[in-house]
Amino acid sequence: MNEMSEKTASEKVEEEEIVIDVDEPELTVEDLPGVGPATAEKLREAGFEELLAIAVMSPSELAEQAELGEAVSAKIIAGAKKMANIGGFISGSALLDRRKLVQKLTSGSSSLDELLGGGFETQAIVEVFGEFGSGKTQIGHQLAVNSILPFDKGGFDGEIFYIDTEDTFRPERIAQMAEAVGIDPQDALDRIHVARAYNSAHQILLVDEIKRMSKNIDVKLIIVDSLTSHFRAEYIGRGMLAARQQKLNKHMKELKQLSDVNNALVLVTNQVMSKPDAMWGDPTKAIGGHIVAHASTFRLYLRKSKGGRRIARLIDSPNLPDGEAVFTVTTEGLRD
Ligand code: GTP
Ligand code: MG
Repeated sequence: MNEMSEKTASEKVEEEEIVIDVDEPELTVEDLPGVGPATAEKLREAGFEELLAIAVMSPSELAEQAELGEAVSAKIIAGAKKMANIGGFISGSALLDRRKLVQKLTSGSSSLDELLGGGFETQAIVEVFGEFGSGKTQIGHQLAVNSILPFDKGGFDGEIFYIDTEDTFRPERIAQMAEAVGIDPQDALDRIHVARAYNSAHQILLVDEIKRMSKNIDVKLIIVDSLTSHFRAEYIGRGMLAARQQKLNKHMKELKQLSDVNNALVLVTNQVMSKPDAMWGDPTKAIGGHIVAHASTFRLYLRKSKGGRRIARLIDSPNLPDGEAVFTVTTEGLRD
């Protein structure tokens, strides 16, 4: 069995320097002025676990949701505003230092790597969306395997968390792809930690679990395949859209934080819904709308093409030109 690779002390120090605020002792709702055990419980029951969540409320909203008086709510909010870690500002040079740590992962296809400016980046969420069979899950499997490769072979030499919502993770496929790049299949499987998410609430909880486990595991890649399927199935109709988008937004923020803290890559897959009323352009649109689109650092739109080829189009990248890459899915995995 493979030992979980402990982070070295120097790596930890480095993280503390670049990741502001994350390791500070966390204040809880009990630390707020005027909050005793009963009020704390009410706040928690209403879902106000974090001070920041309270700080951004209005007194009437908080009063209603946590069943408190408005005056009390106003006092609590004022306290939360002072004490919450609003964060936000960091100098440009600190940001540049953090960017210098960005690492790039090969996909196995040089044209796809090139499209992404040299590979899939850490400190980023990459959203891969496309219709069924377009290769989203195959990309997930391939990146999981490649993350195990040493740095000089385009890998991360790290470990992987794979949240599987559709029961499509296949260890046999991992073994096949591992063998093709010269990794011991058993070693590959040992370094990929897989969890099946049974519903969206479970999916969200699994991210907390990753946060906990990543203290001892050198996580370099987190995959959520698929990001949206449970949300789409559970939150049906217009009336639930706002609630769904809020949950998705929070979920993605947590994933982004994990990617920053661990200098890791997050890969999420997303389906498209057909948009029959579209008059021109592509008749498909990703699920999750603007929330998912904005929370993703890079977006890849996959299409099937002739002869088993796949076309990936890069959309709305912060620092790269939009463009397309062609690759194939073979028995060995992703190739040009
Ligand atoms: P949904 O999850 O259904 O939305 O689809 P997806 O985008 O995740 O598709 P997926 O990545 O599962 O792609 C499936 C396709 O990959 C198959 O139709 C095959 O073309 C290809 N594929 C999967 N496994 C193999 C394999 O072992 N060998 C080869 N040659 N192709 C494979
Ligand atoms: Mg899939």
